[in-house]
Amino acid sequence: MEFDVLGEYEDAGYKLLAGVIVPRPIAWVTTLNDDGSVNAAPFSFFNLLGASPPIVGFAPGDKEPGVPKDTARNIRRSGEFVVHLVDADHAQAMNVCASDLPAGESELALANLQTTPSQTIAVPRIASAPVAIECTEHSTLSIGQNRLIIGLIQHLYVADGILDPETLLVQREHYSPIGRMEVPASYCRTSDRFDMPRP
Ligand SMILES: Cc1cc2nc3c(=O)[nH]c(=O)nc-3n(C[C@H](O)[C@H](O)[C@H](O)COP(=O)(O)O)c2cc1C
Repeated sequence: MEFDVLGEYEDAGYKLLAGVIVPRPIAWVTTLNDDGSVNAAPFSFFNLLGASPPIVGFAPGDKEPGVPKDTARNIRRSGEFVVHLVDADHAQAMNVCASDLPAGESELALANLQTTPSQTIAVPRIASAPVAIECTEHSTLSIGQNRLIIGLIQHLYVADGILDPETLLVQREHYSPIGRMEVPASYCRTSDRFDMPRP
């Protein structure tokens, strides 16, 4: 099947592309609202984009043309955010954070999550998340209704037990983030892995 995703299949583009470009890691992002409360939301248009300097990118779509989601608006104002990775134990809580709550209501309280201070930025991290990546906004590209936020990584937190303390390599039996699969609401576990040395 062939699809002209800028023409006849424009409306189906999201469903088609987000169905085949899988699995995607999920950035569970905390930011500070202008009243100082903590906002949290998941984004699967996300990845590590480079190592020197270390950068991540994720892409909130606008709520409507020109109106950013709260995460994008907060980052534009404060320049800071924390990206957390989501394991199976946090899947439900992450999903709760995708709710569209009235202003002033906290996704984190609804999901029964505690925060703890970050090391380098004012935005706190989710205390129980296995991995938290403190970022400052490097830049935001606006492409149509997408905002591609590029974050400069300032600090990495990894919960005890995930890394081998000697080698700093992930111990796979202790870290299995979930991935986003096809629309509308499919996910995968990453507990089944295989190794393939490079030629
Ligand atoms: C697993 C998952 C992945 C998501 N990925 C994205 C994404 O990449 N871009 C986006 O705009 N919304 C995405 N969403 C929807 C947002 O999380 C949702 O719109 C949220 O309410 C935005 O919150 P905010 O307004 O506080 O930023 C995703 C939702 C889920 C559950």
